[in-house]
Amino acid sequence: MAVSYLVALFCASAGKNGEELGSDEEQIILFVYLLYDVTNNKVVALQQHYVKPQPNELSETVLTEECKTETGLDENMIKNGQPLDHVLEEFDRFLYSKGVHPDHGGKSFCFVSDGPNHIRQCFHPETCNKNINLPAYFNKYYDLRKEFKKYYKTDVIKNIKAMLDYLGLEGDQSVEYGVRQCQEMASIVHRLINDGHVFGESDIVSERLEPGICSKNEFVDDNSVVRARGLPWQSSDQDIARFFKGLNISKGGVALCLSPQGRRNGEALVRFESEEHRDLAIRRHKHHIGQRYIEVYKATGKDFINVAGGSNTEAQAFLSRGGQVIIRMRGLPFTATTQQVLDFFSRDPNQCIVLDGEDGILFVHYPDGRSTGDAFVLFASEEEANKALKKHRDIMGTRYIELFKSTTAEVQQVLNRSMDPRNPEQPADSQLSPLIAQIPQQTTLPMLPQNFITSGTRRDCVRLRNLPTGAQVTDILTFLGEYSQFIVYQGVHMVYTSQGEASGEAFIQMESEEAAVLTSINRHRRQMIFANKKRIIDVIPCSGDDMSLVLTNGMPMTAALPPAVAPMIQRQLIPTAVSPPTMIPTSSIASLPYQMPQPAPMQAFQHHPAMTHIPAQRPAYFPPILYW
Ligand SMILES: *[C@@H]1O[C@H](CO)[C@@H](O)[C@H](O)[C@H]1NC(C)=O
Ligand SMILES: *[C@@H]1O[C@H](CO)[C@@H](O)[C@H](O)[C@H]1NC(C)=O
Repeated sequence: MAVSYLVALFCASAGKNGEELGSDEEQIILFVYLLYDVTNNKVVALQQHYVKPQPNELSETVLTEECKTETGLDENMIKNGQPLDHVLEEFDRFLYSKGVHPDHGGKSFCFVSDGPNHIRQCFHPETCNKNINLPAYFNKYYDLRKEFKKYYKTDVIKNIKAMLDYLGLEGDQSVEYGVRQCQEMASIVHRLINDGHVFGESDIVSERLEPGICSKNEFVDDNSVVRARGLPWQSSDQDIARFFKGLNISKGGVALCLSPQGRRNGEALVRFESEEHRDLAIRRHKHHIGQRYIEVYKATGKDFINVAGGSNTEAQAFLSRGGQVIIRMRGLPFTATTQQVLDFFSRDPNQCIVLDGEDGILFVHYPDGRSTGDAFVLFASEEEANKALKKHRDIMGTRYIELFKSTTAEVQQVLNRSMDPRNPEQPADSQLSPLIAQIPQQTTLPMLPQNFITSGTRRDCVRLRNLPTGAQVTDILTFLGEYSQFIVYQGVHMVYTSQGEASGEAFIQMESEEAAVLTSINRHRRQMIFANKKRIIDVIPCSGDDMSLVLTNGMPMTAALPPAVAPMIQRQLIPTAVSPPTMIPTSSIASLPYQMPQPAPMQAFQHHPAMTHIPAQRPAYFPPILYW
């Protein structure tokens, strides 16, 4: 059944436009849309929005020269625009007011745009980076070039101009860049409909990465695979899929590569559903996950099979059970049984259910049958798995168990490696060593175990702000969800005022800079629901020094932090953007009743062993800290 309305969609970015739109990871600055009534074959409405990019301070120099020349836009127009989330809300209201909003019983509509870039390379990745919820209607669109080729059986269509020329149509005379493009798309649509074309199946953007398995004998097209390098090693396959948001990855199409020791090495092979999507993926070369840029290269079908393809029948049987999420357990006692694993997951808190009971657990063994201390466990849903991941570093017997999100490819590689007869016959203990902590001797917890407060400039901590009064560590862990697995032992520090009241802030030490960045990207500006109220929580990476400073003398962190997470890169050619360090709004900190007049000598405090035993002598300005 054909759609009754089309919405011609057009956007421009602050950097490259046209064929290379989105390839430089620049932000959307212009959004134009035109509502087309298919039944009556006419234009109903047209709207244009300027979009203000982040960070706002930079708006004076935000457009590249290339962009200005191409689009005729200038900074003044953009500066007065709305941020992307507002513009999207306005668009949503527009649909509603025109009676075409899918959630309000409206007539159906579908986007139409010139090529895949606008939707797949701009709206999807940018909203994903900014944690903006993109409505589901952005998962469907018609690619006007494809429709055109299909109907007129031609092959030379590169852009709107080419379509107009082919049909002998005049270009639109509108002065404004985006308006012109939408009007021209409308005249092409008009002609297509007049000539009898029916807009049938639309292009679909897959919403999430589906799990799947790949066997050694499967055929994988050479034109569908990329190798991504430089990934934070904690990245799950879903994190990697997020980097490629907007493109269709095949089922089970993310294969994390492992080193010969079975460690992740920051590389992954990613298989897309078509060559078109593989090519779009290549254009994301050097795009960012946090501050890190990711390299994306072409790879072959064989590369993918080598990493993802399994030959182990036990693994294949396990993986075919259809769990949504696989969790890797490390550090199991070598005598652990499936029942003990089931008990581990079924106990409180964070009780969760393993898919198919004992059959949902796969132990990893050496060729001689000894356990490696690893197991894979299946969960039926993300929800169950997230509860399970909260058990990271819970105890089984005398050991901490580490839990990580895993993938089918990892299962296959780990099993393949473990069964390799050349596998060094070392006690499994030493193989696993550095990631696994033995339980430290139970000591009476000192008031101030400074050794747990890190220092240094590595940005491996996150600062949470705007926490509701009364929020506890468990609320924070719930809020961080799967990212709480990266918190170091006793790494959550609530900040209290000198009156002993929660200040609404917490500092959290993460395992690494990458973990801090991933957590921030995925949780910054997300809602925490507490006492039935919603709060938007800031999650900002910071260093141990930043943290110690606030925790030890209550001084506001000023220049130390960048403006929130800025997943968008700041263009280097703007020197002014770099020089004055942007101060994050320190409202909550600033309002704390700290009286500390001058910065305390940090060294003295940090290495003063006596301090830990004399809490009564803590100076009044000292913010008490709660350890977890
Ligand atoms: C993209 O994925 C969706 C569902 O995940 C599928 O329906 C669609 O056919 C895919 N499109 C392409 C071009 O592979
Ligand atoms: C592991 O994979 C390699 C390379 O694909 C293969 O040659 C080998 O037979 C596999 N080993 C096992 C034990 O499955």
